[in-house]
Amino acid sequence: MNVVLGISGSIAAYKSAEIIRLLKKRGAEVKVILTKNGAEFITKKTLETLSNYPVACDMFAKIEHYDVEHISLAKWADIVLVAPATANIIAKFATGIADDMLSTTLLAAVGRAKIVFAPAMNTQMYDSPQNQYNMQRAREFGAEFFEPSSGELACGDIGRGRMDEPVSIVNALYDMFEAKQDLKGKRFLVTAGATIEPLDPVRYITNHSSGKMGISIANAAAKRGAEVILIAGRTQDIRIDSNIKTVNILTSQDMYEAVHEHIINADVFISAAAPADFTPEDYSEQKIKKSGDELILKLKKTKDILKSVADNKGKRIHVGFAAETENLHKNAVAKLKAKNLDMIAANDVTQKGCGFAYDTNAVELFFADGTHINSGLMTKNDLAHWLINHIAERF
Ligand code: PMT
Repeated sequence: MNVVLGISGSIAAYKSAEIIRLLKKRGAEVKVILTKNGAEFITKKTLETLSNYPVACDMFAKIEHYDVEHISLAKWADIVLVAPATANIIAKFATGIADDMLSTTLLAAVGRAKIVFAPAMNTQMYDSPQNQYNMQRAREFGAEFFEPSSGELACGDIGRGRMDEPVSIVNALYDMFEAKQDLKGKRFLVTAGATIEPLDPVRYITNHSSGKMGISIANAAAKRGAEVILIAGRTQDIRIDSNIKTVNILTSQDMYEAVHEHIINADVFISAAAPADFTPEDYSEQKIKKSGDELILKLKKTKDILKSVADNKGKRIHVGFAAETENLHKNAVAKLKAKNLDMIAANDVTQKGCGFAYDTNAVELFFADGTHINSGLMTKNDLAHWLINHIAERF
């Protein structure tokens, strides 16, 4: 998600630093526009350091990558968030005044990006008929507002006008963004969880996959409007979106068959499951007895599901995962090539917070063109959206 964060002149500008940090933590790219008055409350240096981008202030400043900056920022943004938003910047937006970088970008962003204001001002100013009128007009031009909360204001008054806390703003922004139906008309096939390879009626071979990663992806795709089929092995009890058709399977062979049955109509196939690579050669109909001091099991290779659908993938996008404990880059790229994937998300399962069963994960996403990008550590839900954003770019 690309966010242009506009900061106007309010004491609440100190909260903008935290907004940038939280947005980046959730995988967003953030570019900042600081108004002249905003610069009285927070420094450009702080914002540049946190966002990793130059901060735009002056419309006529010499910008190295000059590309009619206000237009290029409006084009780049998925969301223009103004936080804090003063009565002045809301009034400018409502009346079409474009006399600095932020107001000009806002005007250029109408109809292109989502525009959201998080007002911060004194209660009387907030409740004034002029401000309420301007907010109404701004809504008519497509803007949305994160209503300020009540409490003690910087001026000492108590009342409405305090900008919401950064964490609430960022959560609300994500809810808003993720609710967009950008995957409408697309069909996703997703696998999740571990397979179970029975040895006898009592015992089986499996692995640590909880299904959290795959189910997060399926839920995220469904939330964004895709038609989703989830092929689930053994998973933890995790909420699955009611719009998803779930096919439950046990073994790697079952998963192979279910994938082959459902893949024909899919536009995207994401293989986040951990299917067994080996299965017992023989299944014992009776419980295996503890007869000797050792038991030697003979295992045979299972079918590689992703590889088996590689040849006639056509325009379908295939995304694999690679659970690695060493040589992440080399192994992931080898799998990407062997399975003819468009991308592979490699997780180092030796890292704390990454891989099996955690609520969080971090992946290095390798693309078929040789490029790669790091997600950073984030929740599996956020990572699912991050991954889907990369897939959605291909449509
Ligand atoms: O389920 P969680 O607890 O949330 O954990 C998430 C995860 C660690 C399981 C997930 O992020 C992950 O890495 N999934 C892939 C696990 C795996 O099997 O990796 P692999 O490197 O062995 O396989 C590479 C790819 O081939 C994977 O996309 C896998 O789904 C697929 N594969 C593997 C074996 C097989 N027989 N057929 C396959 O298609």
